[in-house]
Amino acid sequence: MDFVEQLKSSVDIVNVVGEYVRLRRSGANRYMGLCPFHNEKSPSFTVHVVHQFYKCFSCGAGGDVVKFVMEKEGLSFYEALKTMSERYGVPMPKRSQYSDEDSKLRGSLLAMHEQAEEDFRANLKSQAGEAARAYIAKRGLAAETVEHFGLGYSDRSGRALVRLFEQRGFPVAQMEASGLVGKRQDGSLYDRFRNRLMFPIHNEAGKIIGFGGRALSPDDEPKYLNSPETQLYVKKKVLYNLHRAKEAVRKEDRVILVEGYMDVIGVTAAGFRNVVASCGTALAAEQVQAMKRHTHRIAVNFDPDAPGESACERSIDLLLAEGMQVRIVELDGGLDPDEYCKERGAAAYQERVDGAKGYFYWLADRARSKHDMRTSEGKVAVLNFLLPKVQNVTDQLERMTIANDVAGYIGVDPGMVLDHFRKAVSERSEKAIVRPTNLLRHDERMLLIALLTEAQLRAEMIGPLRSLQTIDTLPSRRIFQAIFALEESGGRVGFDEINGRLEEADQNLLAQTVLNADGEISREEVVAAVESMQRSEQHNLRVQLKARIGESERAGRLDEAMRLTMELQRIERATPSRRT
Ligand code: GTP
Ligand code: MN
Repeated sequence: MDFVEQLKSSVDIVNVVGEYVRLRRSGANRYMGLCPFHNEKSPSFTVHVVHQFYKCFSCGAGGDVVKFVMEKEGLSFYEALKTMSERYGVPMPKRSQYSDEDSKLRGSLLAMHEQAEEDFRANLKSQAGEAARAYIAKRGLAAETVEHFGLGYSDRSGRALVRLFEQRGFPVAQMEASGLVGKRQDGSLYDRFRNRLMFPIHNEAGKIIGFGGRALSPDDEPKYLNSPETQLYVKKKVLYNLHRAKEAVRKEDRVILVEGYMDVIGVTAAGFRNVVASCGTALAAEQVQAMKRHTHRIAVNFDPDAPGESACERSIDLLLAEGMQVRIVELDGGLDPDEYCKERGAAAYQERVDGAKGYFYWLADRARSKHDMRTSEGKVAVLNFLLPKVQNVTDQLERMTIANDVAGYIGVDPGMVLDHFRKAVSERSEKAIVRPTNLLRHDERMLLIALLTEAQLRAEMIGPLRSLQTIDTLPSRRIFQAIFALEESGGRVGFDEINGRLEEADQNLLAQTVLNADGEISREEVVAAVESMQRSEQHNLRVQLKARIGESERAGRLDEAMRLTMELQRIERATPSRRT
């Protein structure tokens, strides 16, 4: 068995996809969920258990488990195999035919990051790391926390990584591409990070792809220096700590979003494992989607300062647009999440998170504090600020409830607010949901499913079916032909093999047919379908004969007309006509 087949037979697509999408069983052989490849409100993304493929009926994405990992993680075919081989413990043959330049470079970059992390960690334990250890102690980080987050120290030399990478034979171009090494005008190389406390940043698969480095003293600028954007580190896709947090996020069905590395670390150390941060960049839609694969419920806990509050406000719009349920955690005393956990303790923080307000109350408070609510101008200004935000709520019932609440909260007539929304709703055309439809006639569908799933029946049926011309007139004729061809060549007749022989339109048809089939199919049903197809054949023959008889008569070829008429009578005697 070739490695790809071996890998595919040892992982279950339902589990793999399930790490990214919340799947719900929707039939004996199917799961459904929200498509991870486009933004949707009702699920049209389906995974088939038996045939191990996925298909979105809205955006058309579809394929096998390897394709899913490629598309989801932006990997090449080879990289996807490698990732899956590591993640699911299916050893990959050493000399592999699946390799390309791009993935070799990524491999080198990952190796350099692993090396860098090792080096930083060793530094932290060495003599050179004394100041960094003192800083860690001052911040109150326990040894196990330092270990858990892989914290390290980049020394003062400015040459440590350069030397290490040179020893290991990494070419200069790769060193530069890693973002860990810079090049001066004169061509000499230097370490990007010097004398900083180092925070490794991982992708969702748990590989190190970048670093954040914190200055140890307040007069060292900037406070945080981060890895630049590289081939590995695409900032808008990465959330700090997501690879560790995702399990807890799923279990608790809630993610806590904070601003900084130290917040993630402090909050985690206090016992909350479902916390992530966006590493100093504005929250991006891709990051929201990454969270959304694990939960729809988010508690945003940004710093209680002006930049934190405006970042929070901008994030709310984005989160709502992605269909998240948003609450805002407010901490008193001007403390950030890290400081709050340290000063007030885990129980107090838990209380703040559990008691977090729905985002619209937070927004209403924010708007109220900016305007004079005793004047009608003030009220209108607040309403005008709030209404567009509430309008982002994707669920209609929830939207109405919130509109009502907001009206009450700021003391305006609920009727006025609701009117505004009814108008807005009727103007908005809800996007139609594409559902799999039955494009094929009943017997055609039955036969396809039987050919695909029942080896025994396939062997019995295939002869009679091949002789039918009717098959070649069906919408699914190319699928039948692919099955016939495979059977004839003696190859395995499985979903993948058939799918591999089809053009995209027919692949879609096959996916729809298979996904519409649910439950067992009985021998009686299949026999009935074969008979029904044979009746169609007879019917078609009669129609053709009648047409030819008419033609012959019109052309005056009466002998021929007579001969055809007798043939027609013979057919009609043999198959008592039954209208289907
Ligand atoms: P401490 O100040 O050590 O407690 O860290 P913090 O996590 O509380 O940091 P802060 O709230 O100041 O900033 C939040 C996040 O923004 C940090 O974790 C960094 O990712 C990022 N950040 C902060 N300062 C800088 C900076 O000077 N440059 C860059 N590029 N990013 C920064
Ligand atoms: Mn802080």
